Amino acid sequence: MLLARRPARSLAKASPCIDATENETVTTLNESLLGDDNTSRSVTVDGRPLLLVNRHGALFLYENRCPHTGDSLDPQGGSLSDTSGGLLTCQRHGAQFLAENGQCVGGPCLGASLTAVPFSVISGHIVLS
Ligand code: FES
Repeated sequence: MLLARRPARSLAKASPCIDATENETVTTLNESLLGDDNTSRSVTVDGRPLLLVNRHGALFLYENRCPHTGDSLDPQGGSLSDTSGGLLTCQRHGAQFLAENGQCVGGPCLGASLTAVPFSVISGHIVLS
């Protein structure tokens, strides 16, 4: 089942850092973790592997788990986004997913979807629901 994603109002262009942050009451990701437009990156929050996707300044968040095998999408690291930011390509067997809803539109898991992670953006922090 697809879950609604909310685009961020604006995304910081600060140098990315590796560590996710956590505050006392909620687990959060800082917007500074996001890369340039039309890129993705993986982070781990509380042991949960996630994929942050920045498409034209809109943020999408998915579990970093390919529906083909259940393994991570990016064993080689780096961005999975194409230059338009519209497609994410799994590094294992080439499945392609729409950045905006995670639906697989090509490859071995055609019709399946990435698992969306609900979130809100509050004061520059990405708060997982
Ligand atoms: S594990 Fe992603 S396409 Fe096979």
